[in-house]
Amino acid sequence: MKIKKAIIPAAGLGTRVLPASKSVPKEMLNIVDKPAIQYIVEEAAASGIEDILIITNRGKGVIEDHFDHSFELEAQLKGNPAKEALYESVKRCSELANVYFVRQKETKGLAHAILAGKSFIGDEPFAVLYGDDVIINDEDPVTAQMCRCYEKYGKCTVGVQSVPEELIHLYCSLGVTPIEGETRLMNCYRINEKPTKDEILSLYAILGRVIMPPKAFGMIEDEINSTPSDKEYYLTDLFTKLGQADELLAYDFIGRRYDMGNKLGIMQANCEVALSHPEIGEDFKAYIKSLAASI
Ligand code: UTP
Repeated sequence: MKIKKAIIPAAGLGTRVLPASKSVPKEMLNIVDKPAIQYIVEEAAASGIEDILIITNRGKGVIEDHFDHSFELEAQLKGNPAKEALYESVKRCSELANVYFVRQKETKGLAHAILAGKSFIGDEPFAVLYGDDVIINDEDPVTAQMCRCYEKYGKCTVGVQSVPEELIHLYCSLGVTPIEGETRLMNCYRINEKPTKDEILSLYAILGRVIMPPKAFGMIEDEINSTPSDKEYYLTDLFTKLGQADELLAYDFIGRRYDMGNKLGIMQANCEVALSHPEIGEDFKAYIKSLAASI
């Protein structure tokens, strides 16, 4: 079954990048000339996703504005030959895909945020693209890579990459076994969240993309109903249950990932995208070279 719908959770508080994220959502932080979430919507659209639900909350209205028409701006730019490219770039934001919004009423974790998309998704598999994880692969977008895995095996598929051993304690560590005939796709039987040295199963960690079966909603609801509390609901519980039932795959995706919820990630994204940018790439390269020579 073709995957046509996606959820982008973007309702988190972004505490790791305060004060930048105090009044500008971290998903709207800039990478050269576009906000992070535009790269993510573009990835989804380039992967064949037609309908996208962005989960927001109070204070994130600028995300809605960004994907809406800007009548005054477009009227100002339209018809001016010197501003034609700018006009197209502004208009394009509202034409990338069908983008919808819903609010997560309380910031109670990623699983809780995804549940807000239940009626939008209905009874079909869907992609989840974390709103602060920009992953760049212009030839073969990561969501498209992962949709192919789901379409082949029909199992929940988490996007993973290998992280440095000294950093794995900040992520989760996956227990995986190979699948015959596959090079990047593995069975995942276990997840150790924020592992101590003894708990490291592999250096594979889940990073920013998941293709979920529709039954994920029922499983998240069961978890929330069975342990009602003020705590945050993460996806670990869902993945653990699917792993135990032999219904979880891990896919080692091909793409450059930037964590926009993290100061270093924001700087890496800006530097690397600037270096290959058609307008400023050459000048920026010269600047970086002279800067490096002076350090
Ligand atoms: P993160 O855990 O990285 O975001 O969630 P956070 O909670 O904003 O991070 P801190 O405060 O810096 O630790 C990954 C994605 O899920 C969204 C976030 O907006 C981010 O894009 N999210 C997280 C929600 O939509 N709702 C939540 O309750 C939590």
